[in-house]
Amino acid sequence: MSANIAEMEKRRSAAKLGGGQKRIDAQHAKGKLTARERLDVLLDEGSFEEMDLYVEHDCVDFGMQDQKIPGDGVVTGSGTINGRLVYVFSQDFTVFGGSLSARHAQKICKVMDAALKVGAPVIGLNDSGGARIQEGVASLGGYADVFQRNVLASGVVPQLSLIMGPCAGGAVYSPAMTDFIFMVKDSSYMFVTGPEVVKTVTNEVVTQEELGGAITHSSKTSVSDLALENDIEALLAARDFFDFLPSSNRDGVPERPSADAWDRLEPSLDTIIPPSANQPYDMHEVIRKTVDEGEFFELQPLHAGNIIIGFGRVEGKTVGIVANQPMVLAGVLDINSSKKAARFVRFCDAFSIPLITFVDVPGFLPGTDQEHNGIIKHGAKLLFAYAEATVPKITVITRKAYGGAYDVMSSKHLRGDLNYAWPTAEIAVMGAKGAVEIIFRGQDADGIAAKTKEYEDRFANPFVAASRGYIDEVIYPHSTRRRIALGLRKLRNKELENPWKKHDNIPL
Ligand code: HXC
Repeated sequence: MSANIAEMEKRRSAAKLGGGQKRIDAQHAKGKLTARERLDVLLDEGSFEEMDLYVEHDCVDFGMQDQKIPGDGVVTGSGTINGRLVYVFSQDFTVFGGSLSARHAQKICKVMDAALKVGAPVIGLNDSGGARIQEGVASLGGYADVFQRNVLASGVVPQLSLIMGPCAGGAVYSPAMTDFIFMVKDSSYMFVTGPEVVKTVTNEVVTQEELGGAITHSSKTSVSDLALENDIEALLAARDFFDFLPSSNRDGVPERPSADAWDRLEPSLDTIIPPSANQPYDMHEVIRKTVDEGEFFELQPLHAGNIIIGFGRVEGKTVGIVANQPMVLAGVLDINSSKKAARFVRFCDAFSIPLITFVDVPGFLPGTDQEHNGIIKHGAKLLFAYAEATVPKITVITRKAYGGAYDVMSSKHLRGDLNYAWPTAEIAVMGAKGAVEIIFRGQDADGIAAKTKEYEDRFANPFVAASRGYIDEVIYPHSTRRRIALGLRKLRNKELENPWKKHDNIPL
């Protein structure tokens, strides 16, 4: 018996060395952790249970039959994060560059299947040279098997991808179909074709970082939700983030005790709106003063800053927050902000996370750039997302809610459950001056000024909308948290179903 155990231990330790000490040292020299070290940081101590440690590839081409490394370049299994179950895979760059073989893919599929079966999130740590070149089509098939599972799992269990090394070719499409992507600065890259192919085909000279680094994808493309400084920071961020996520669409939002009083008043919010409508203020402050302990996990902070998205908690339970940001482009809705918020709203709706929307929006951004790039279609995404969402929806209009953007931002008409306005709210078709210049075209400056004043007096307030029941109540800004907490309590058992359909046809 002891000989058998010794044999098992020998095999285990050999397998855990992956591609060997030299390659582990090379990984460390690049400032990267190994696949197993990453799991140690991500998961609760001692919670990782590995599967498929001894799986090997079956390739016999290009001398591969003599190069078998147990585990085949990916560490898979399950563990816990702050006590909650999660399924994980972590690609091992020290084994054939973390490249994906058929068996490597099979291991990933196995954890995804297990996660779906029991209703637990999947976190993938990606560090891979893409398809295992020696395997050819077998590896392409493996990718497609993973893609198929990403799609089936979408909306059933949360999926998070951490990009912690190269991620090239078709390899980018599995992370792209997960719910969230975190990237590590300076060591992770995502592109369909790398700089050398780009140079050959388009003659452009570009670095890996510029083409598909963490900053590029977190600011320009929005492929990534966050750019973190290093592996440890990314893994710790993933742990914090995980705490906000439900385990599956069958579970409610996670709860944790909060010492923050549900009815905490915030007198400073009574004076946060500047005297002039053109002066900005930071909507982050409104958000932080509303959620438990001021803790707000923002996503995509570097992309489309005119809208803010992220998770917070009220009375210990997760809420999704969407807010116009007057500090950036006056909080206008444009293509990027509409797309950013729409996907977030749909995630929250899929996983029964209540939505809190703070509104200060002057409308949609005018211009040929926006029109020709499809603001109609892209703006419709956010409208569609809010309209189809059946989770509890609470809206607070802090200042402007103009035009179509008023409708879009979780208005009463889109089945907003509780629509509040601060006394500073202005709910109108457009700003007073613009409106008057259209309806009183040709009048002199004095006439325009007089009519502007009249229009402001009539519409630059929340009471016209409130008189129609479009606003449920005009509330003191200092009572915002209290009103939201009360509202969420009342909406806890909300039941609302959309008509049966195979699926909808959101304007993609
Ligand atoms: C097999 C691979 C590999 C791959 C790397 N390696 N990529 N082995 N298949 N795709 C191996 C290397 O041979 C090397 O082995 C080890 O991994 C480390 O690679 P290096 O090149 O030494 O590392 P580095 O300099 O850091 O460069 C990493 C890299 C580069 C940028 C990822 O290796 C690279 O460009 N690889 C090829 C990328 C690629 O074209 N992949 C196919 C994409 S197409 P040793 O033994 O020396 O340690 C694709 C299609 C999928 O993915 C489509 C799905 C729909």
